[in-house]
Amino acid sequence: MCGIVGYIGHGDKKQVLIDGLRELEYRGYDSAGIAMMDESGITHYKAVGKLINLENKASEYSSNSYGVGIGHTRWATHGKPNEVNAHPHLGEYSFVVHNGIIENYQELKKELQDEGVRFLSQTDTEVIVHLFEKFNNQLDNPFQAFEQTIAKLRGAYATLLITKKDPETIYFAKNGSPMIAGKDDHGSVYFGSSDAALIGKAKEVTYLTDGDYGFARSGTIHLFHAGESMVPAMVPLKSDKIYAQKEGFRFFMEKEIYEQSSVISDTMLGRVLDDEIHFDEIPDGLFDGIREIKVCACGTSYHAALASSYLFERLSQIRASVEIASEFRYKEPLLRTDTLFVVISQSGETADTLEALKMAKLAGIKTLALCNVDNSSIVREADATILLRAGIEKGVASTKAFATQMMVLWMLALYLAKDKMTAEKYRFDLEAMRLIPGLAKVNERIHEKVKRLSKRYLHGHGFFFIGRDIFYPLALEGALKLKEISYLHAEGYPSGEMKHGPIALADSELFTIALMPQTLLYDKTKSNIEELSARDSTICAISPKSFELADDMIRTSEQKHPMCEFFEMMVILQLLSMEVAVRRGNDVDMPRNLAKSVTVE
Ligand code: M6R
Repeated sequence: MCGIVGYIGHGDKKQVLIDGLRELEYRGYDSAGIAMMDESGITHYKAVGKLINLENKASEYSSNSYGVGIGHTRWATHGKPNEVNAHPHLGEYSFVVHNGIIENYQELKKELQDEGVRFLSQTDTEVIVHLFEKFNNQLDNPFQAFEQTIAKLRGAYATLLITKKDPETIYFAKNGSPMIAGKDDHGSVYFGSSDAALIGKAKEVTYLTDGDYGFARSGTIHLFHAGESMVPAMVPLKSDKIYAQKEGFRFFMEKEIYEQSSVISDTMLGRVLDDEIHFDEIPDGLFDGIREIKVCACGTSYHAALASSYLFERLSQIRASVEIASEFRYKEPLLRTDTLFVVISQSGETADTLEALKMAKLAGIKTLALCNVDNSSIVREADATILLRAGIEKGVASTKAFATQMMVLWMLALYLAKDKMTAEKYRFDLEAMRLIPGLAKVNERIHEKVKRLSKRYLHGHGFFFIGRDIFYPLALEGALKLKEISYLHAEGYPSGEMKHGPIALADSELFTIALMPQTLLYDKTKSNIEELSARDSTICAISPKSFELADDMIRTSEQKHPMCEFFEMMVILQLLSMEVAVRRGNDVDMPRNLAKSVTVE
């Protein structure tokens, strides 16, 4: 996830771009860059790290003559966060910025290289500028060249391009990544990845939709879709910046829950192929001689780790064990060199996880990190890293990071299962995987139902979230979400374990949130819940099948694969904890006593 901005006008181009990028810095901050063009030509600056580094570097520049500018703040997906990989990317006479992932960039790059084009960066983005110049050299028509360029791109993109061949114009295209275009009363045009970058500048905006492209020049936005010229639908721009960063959602947590579908798609891009799983990030030999996988993490990431142990054993047929990092550090663990040590962390800075990783390295065993923040301490320490591509997560309660962790872990389990599963079973998983972005989309009807139901779950003496198999770690995660933002006591438990003690707590003030998937151990789970119902526990069942003993029922869709049910139920649990917290008047994004990144032990 990155942020992009664009500007055409008489104002101080550098300042307009930097102001816009500052509002988008939450989307990525491992490098930033700007390019401005006016009558004196093109000037560009790039800097690694936070925006302030770019501001310092460009401090001498100013231009108030009419011209154009584009800017970018980067959150690395392809290529290390260094200056060469920072945007804007340069061709012979044009610059481009891009947010998203060009899925077919390798094949396009190869074609261009075969034709003699020299690439400077490791990014997917650079193909856009070279393709554009190739077509423009043939056609001598920048608009047609741009149209042909975007027709070649597969994947997600929001992109802006400026070129010396048409110096007062910005070319734009949007497909799968956000982009907004706006205007003021003085003939200026603005672009941004979110409203926040345009607030205080543009008066009215148009929210571009997937497949939109065009160019802006002399205060006018020329919009096209599927070859047809369109009239942009302009609406007045709101003036509240924090509201804009939340893109209309009440909380960052809510926005992040709603984003899950699209970030899961990003996670899958270029990795879930037609008939196999592919990870560019896995170096040759990483799995050679490995007989066990040990997965280590904290909090939500630990729940993902626990769920993965079922997948590694069932699909990949590799022994898998799971460790809570703070426990692992002091238990004097026996580490063997035929073990792959996998750490999972959203932030990449969690002290316990980082120390556990260092211990594994010291013991000489191979390490792999699953992490959301490139260049974080954990990423730098591990032998190899698979980035989650969830984008920046602001809510303290982790949601989309968990979703992408689960996705990567499932992909990894399948990657390792290639020669161990029958072709039919392998295909079954691969096909199920492709359904997940759709299933992780928030169903508004269910969200409304959860909002209404939440009023019944504000008191009581506790919650038990229960499930079996992979739905047990999901139950743990549901309970953690509720605890951390509603401040109500909640436990996650394996359904079959309730009778070994916790059932003694059952009465009408004990709330049981029962995960009852139809594809995995339905009858066993049902019996366990009947036992609780018989002791008068209040039951909220989450299931595609109706359950007559439920006091409340949230119906999920009929699915064939347990992971499809998993992701659907995950969203419901997240919404439930959020709506309970809202009703209790709590600070959803910054709950008491917690921090987003736990860098102490
Ligand atoms: O950044 P990490 O994934 O390493 O963080 C681990 C935990 O601190 C984190 O998951 C925490 O439990 C969240 N607040 C859960 O929502």
